[in-house]
Formats: sequence, structure tokens, C-alpha cells
Amino acid sequence: MNYLKALKYGSKILKLNNIQNSNLDTELLLSEVLNSNRENILINLNKKLKKKNFNQFKELILRRKNYEPIAYIVKKKEFWKHDFIVNKEVLIPRPETEIIVNKVLNLTKKETSKHILDVGTGSGCIVISVIKERPKFKGTAIDICKNALNVAICNAKIHHLENKIKFINIDIDKFNYNKYDLIVSNPPYINDIDLKRLDKNIKHFEPVSALKAGIDGLSEIRKLIRKSRKLLKINGKLIFEIGKNQVNEVRKLLYLNSFYLNEICKDIQSYPRVIISTKVS
Ligand SMILES: C[S@@+](CC[C@H](N)C(=O)[O-])C[C@H]1O[C@@H](n2cnc3c(N)ncnc32)[C@H](O)[C@@H]1O
Repeated sequence: MNYLKALKYGSKILKLNNIQNSNLDTELLLSEVLNSNRENILINLNKKLKKKNFNQFKELILRRKNYEPIAYIVKKKEFWKHDFIVNKEVLIPRPETEIIVNKVLNLTKKETSKHILDVGTGSGCIVISVIKERPKFKGTAIDICKNALNVAICNAKIHHLENKIKFINIDIDKFNYNKYDLIVSNPPYINDIDLKRLDKNIKHFEPVSALKAGIDGLSEIRKLIRKSRKLLKINGKLIFEIGKNQVNEVRKLLYLNSFYLNEICKDIQSYPRVIISTKVS
């Protein structure tokens, strides 16, 4: 068995099971087994694959065939400019969440020092990506899930930021510590009906506590806005992600809690996805 035959074997199984990107996923899984990268595999297609490695590869293909996301199988996901460790305790970072990082960087200068709070930090991808580019910032990252927070701490260590970010295992509702210049968040925002309709790869693998947000999908956004009013300095910014069709409700919530709505940023599919707002009083 050489690399080419193994790749054909793997992608055929994934294709037959309607896994999108079957070729790419197969290449990534073989790279994982060989502790190599895709490029190296693709220029060595005639190289022999050891039986032991082929057996490991088959196990990974089987996991992917059963819809396990590739990021959980290879235990990492690229976000913004870095790789983040992920496991089933944390949401897999999504490209649309990079809008938050981009907006924070646009709103702040490199040499400023600000205190930023990340609510529902998960893998820590938002706060870590920001502080990598704003070395004078200090961060606080909270999550209701202790196991998720451990993943964030691990990522902060990998990116040498463990001394710049304080990690706290707490519900945003109970958090009353300090005042912040910026609050960022990608809160859970899926309503109970949509939760049941999610793709298998999300529904069966990603943590429900990272997704579920009550009957209207706004339970955590409500808490976030209400608490941010207390936790932000005057003129501090709240930048957060929302789900489809939530923009009008979110607009009202911001108004009721004395926030000025600065911008509604659209994602690549033109859905309103990230809100930038300012606490005005
Ligand atoms: C959608 S995930 C976002 C993870 C990460 N920030 C990202 O963007 O990939 C939401 C996170 O919020 C956490 N969470 C849910 N409810 C919370 C609450 N009431 N207080 C604090 N964290 C909460 C979940 O455990 C989960 O890690």
C-alpha cells in the first residue's frame, strides 16, 4: 500500500458517506497519522505506507465517516493567524468569529493598553488572537464550563500568554469583577428548535453548552448585554457575535441597556453577524 492508494481508499469511503471535502479530509487524516503535512504527502505519493500506519489511518477515516469533525480528530483548528488546540469540551473556532478579532484590531492602536474581557472563551481563540497583536493589553477570560477553560489555559500557554490572561470559571450572570475597556464574546445563540436541526457533525459532537440559548436563542445574549452594562467603563465597547435573524431583537436589547449601536458587521454570506456597540451611560 502506498500513499496514493491509501488516499484513494479513504476518500472513496468518505465520498460514499456524503462527507464534503472528502479528498482534503483524507489528506489531512493521512498527514495526522504520518505526523507530516499535506504537501509532503502529495509529493511522495508512491512512498510505501507501513501496515501499522494504514491501520491507524483506517480508524481515523472511520471516525470521519461517522461525521466527527476533522478538527476534533486532528485536535487542532486554525483561527486568525494561529493553531488552537481543540477537543470536545470546546466549540471549534469558526471563520466568522474572526470578524470580532479584526474589528477589535481596527478599533485599537498597537501600543495602547486596554483591559479586555472575553465572555464564553471556549478554546480562548478570540482573546488570545487579540492579545498576540496587542501586547500591551491584559485579558480576562471566563467560561461556565471548567473543562473548556482548561483548553483555553492550555492554548494561552502554547502562545506564551498565560501571564497576560486571567482565566475564571464562572457564569457571566455571577461575574462582577473589575471594569473593562472592551468586552468580546461569541455567546451561545441557537434556539431550541434550530438546535435539533443542526448538522450531524455539530449536533453529535460539539458541546451543547456552547450552542444552546433557550426558546428564542437569546438567553445568553440577554445576560451578556445586561452584565456588560455593569462591567464596561463608560465609552467601553461591547463586540459580539449573533445568530441569523437576531439583529432586531439585539438592537432593542442594546437600546434598553443604554448601548449605542455603532456597527452591524456582515459575514461572508451577508448575514448580520457581529455587533459593535458602546456603553454610553
Ligand atoms: C459559542 S462558544 C464560543 C467559544 C469561543 N469563544 C469561540 O468563539 O470559538 C460559547 C462559550 O460560552 C460558554 N458559556 C455558555 N454560557 C455561558 C455563561 N452563562 N457564562 C459564561 N460562559 C458561558 C460555553 O461554555 C462556551 O465555551
